Amino acid sequence: MKSLIKDLVESYGPAGFETEITDKIAGLVKEYVDECYVDTLGNLIARKKGTGKKVMFSAHTDEIGVVITYIDEDGFLRFSNVGGLNPLTLLGNRVRFANGVIGVIGREKGELKDLSIDKMYIDIGAESQEEAQAKVSIGDFAVFHREFADLGNRIVAKSLDDRIGCAVLIEAIRRLDQSEHDLYFVFSTQEEVGLRGARTAAYGINPDLGIALDVTRTGDTPEAPRMDVSLGKGTAIKVKDSSVIAHPKVKNLMIRLAQENNIKYQLEVLEAGGTDAGAIHLTRDGVPSGTISIPCRYVHTVSEMVDMRDVENSIDLVLAICRDSLSEF
Ligand code: CO
Ligand code: ZN
Repeated sequence: MKSLIKDLVESYGPAGFETEITDKIAGLVKEYVDECYVDTLGNLIARKKGTGKKVMFSAHTDEIGVVITYIDEDGFLRFSNVGGLNPLTLLGNRVRFANGVIGVIGREKGELKDLSIDKMYIDIGAESQEEAQAKVSIGDFAVFHREFADLGNRIVAKSLDDRIGCAVLIEAIRRLDQSEHDLYFVFSTQEEVGLRGARTAAYGINPDLGIALDVTRTGDTPEAPRMDVSLGKGTAIKVKDSSVIAHPKVKNLMIRLAQENNIKYQLEVLEAGGTDAGAIHLTRDGVPSGTISIPCRYVHTVSEMVDMRDVENSIDLVLAICRDSLSEF
């Protein structure tokens, strides 16, 4: 499974340009499902047909990145954010464009506390504007460039938000033994810029319940903000974030199934941040929705960290939902 995760996280997929990821995932899951298609906004939807409830699972394929806004006379690139970026985590890091060009992020002089993205630039090693323009154009998107690292129980990589959610769904699809339900596994697009892919996917599917899989923050590092989620203490069942209050029926279903199946879990209240469930639950006349979160340190940096035991617990919870009668929906 770690090699699957390595392959997913090292791929290129900023919001709006997810086809490298969705193509890979389609290749991995299509033999296990009845239907596999890509919709207008690029969401990959893998469907396992059934006669029970319509269940939509969603994990986003896109990652945070940058978009080029200006190329100056010396060949330095100015950029804007794609998704949420903290300028302090960008310094010295590298970005990679779709064509493979690598750049380093630097900054103008000034106080670090005043650092903002408009005081930063990307250096692709060009010696002139012409040389830079031959490699990169205005509007080109880049992702952060960093390799996967295996620390044992824990792994570190860029874009574990949310390729780890994708990996959970891929593994669940492969391990799924029985389910009476009509299961839609959505590998959604453009989450990082406003939960956009999941919105149209949910409208098209019109599910009886929706479950997002995504990372959440933790409170288990030195002087961390108080938050009762830790790496290695189990899958996190979301109670609330800024995009959704988990529907009580969905939250209680997940708690019951975790308890019945001895799946290690923790309850999560995330003060700022959202997931695809924020879009799914507001679809049509409302969809009962919740989120299975994978605890993650250093979210939205090039070194996101998760614990593989929490990943396994998350797969088990997805499978338990698929096997349940879901009679309350
Ligand atoms: Co994110
Ligand atoms: Zn995410």
